[in-house]
Amino acid sequence: MICENENKLNPKFESIKINGRCSLQGRIKISGAKNSALVLLAASLLTKDNVYLKNVPDLSDIRKMKNILKSIGVKIDDKDREKILINSGNLHFGNIAHNLVNEIRASFFCIGPLLSKLGQASLALPGGCNIGERRIEEHLKGLQQLGATIEEKDGFVNARINNNKKRLKGTHIRLGCPSVGATETLIMAAVLAEGKTIISNAAREPEIQDLCEMLNKMGAKITKAGTSEVCIEGVNYLNGCSHEVIPDRIEAGTFLIAAAATLSCITISPVIPSHLNSLLQKLKESGSDISIKDDAISIKTETIKGVNIETAPFPGFPTDLQAPFTALMLKATGKSIIKETIFENRMNHIDLLNKMGASIKLENNIATVSGVKKLSGRNLKGSDLRSTAAIVIAALTADNSSLIEGLEHLDRGYEDFEFKLKKLGANIKRDLTENIADTSHKQNFFTSDAQNFYAA
Ligand code: EPZ
Repeated sequence: MICENENKLNPKFESIKINGRCSLQGRIKISGAKNSALVLLAASLLTKDNVYLKNVPDLSDIRKMKNILKSIGVKIDDKDREKILINSGNLHFGNIAHNLVNEIRASFFCIGPLLSKLGQASLALPGGCNIGERRIEEHLKGLQQLGATIEEKDGFVNARINNNKKRLKGTHIRLGCPSVGATETLIMAAVLAEGKTIISNAAREPEIQDLCEMLNKMGAKITKAGTSEVCIEGVNYLNGCSHEVIPDRIEAGTFLIAAAATLSCITISPVIPSHLNSLLQKLKESGSDISIKDDAISIKTETIKGVNIETAPFPGFPTDLQAPFTALMLKATGKSIIKETIFENRMNHIDLLNKMGASIKLENNIATVSGVKKLSGRNLKGSDLRSTAAIVIAALTADNSSLIEGLEHLDRGYEDFEFKLKKLGANIKRDLTENIADTSHKQNFFTSDAQNFYAA
């Protein structure tokens, strides 16, 4: 249910005003990857020594994750934005409370390291959110196979190692689905286990490779990271390290899509081009010229042709770019079919885009987009991270101005989003406004409490 009452309680809302018919030009810097930084913060729990993380983006999810770590005794010094110091030398037992875990899904990544380090962990059971159920049975099954006892009680997951060594035991785990989070949880649980662990049907995302690179710097023995069969030889302890977070491939892809949608020419860096192959392929298919030079990608678009996409685990087309790419297809010539296969409720942007004059039919997570000549700016409220990015992109291409709310979602995953767009020439401004958005668009998948949880 859209929580209308929140508007009455807090009449002033931050919103972004966008004047349409934007054209972008120039170059912007891509920030560190949210979905890497979050798991690397959790991994720092695995050593008593200092961990230095560079290129950590300043996002609300990152700030929340830091608060979660501080709540169990982790020392974090982030005065130097370029390099934050994390020390978990003085961890204390404790339940990671609902109110903190209810902030972000990524908090659940702590269960593996805490179990390995303290022999026990207790975290609030993550619920669903507005893009889907966000299940965790693969995490829990894998931890049990490693020798943990798992109990779910009063909304908490209580994990404990009962053997007298208080140490998990390596084994062969076959995931039922290539879950990114489950792969990360089980790698972090296995690095200090006794003996060898093989994780089959592992997820292959670049953020997992980044995690394994940092863990190996700390003394872990992980091989075949980034393949669907990861091998971990357990060690007795891990040292500190210094590690730089990889560039955010989803932020990079969002800006490439925004440039294509506005028929612009921009350059983005730093990026790791191989992390974006599936998107680059689709952008070329739809008519963009792409050039790659070292860690920079340039895009130039003069026409947009409808192309079909189907989301899939890496290296397939990323689910996190499905909504932004849909916004690109709105004014394409011809039809495009957009199929979401990863999350069951990740089409919250469709109604909003149709209110702007798009022509999209949606059935069973398959959106059929017929290109239109024009879009009209509207007052709209995004309901999850990537859907809100999608309506911003559509607003850039609309004939007139839009006012977009739901910035709490945007701020979770995009650092200085509107400043970067403004630097590229967009006529965009963040402001405080009265409650303006049309919030009747769609009933959300979960209650507002769940929505706040594991938001995307
Ligand atoms: C990570 O979420 C990312 N989040 C997501 O990014 C991303 O969309 C997703 O991976 C897929 O790439 C972070 O890394 C913090 P999953 P995660 O476990 O780990 C089902 C964004 O926008 N599943 O791979 O939660 C699950 O229900 C966010 O930045 C099970 O069925 O993703 C979902 O349908 C959104 N059982 C699918 O797998 C399980 O035990 C993918 O989930 C676990 C997952």
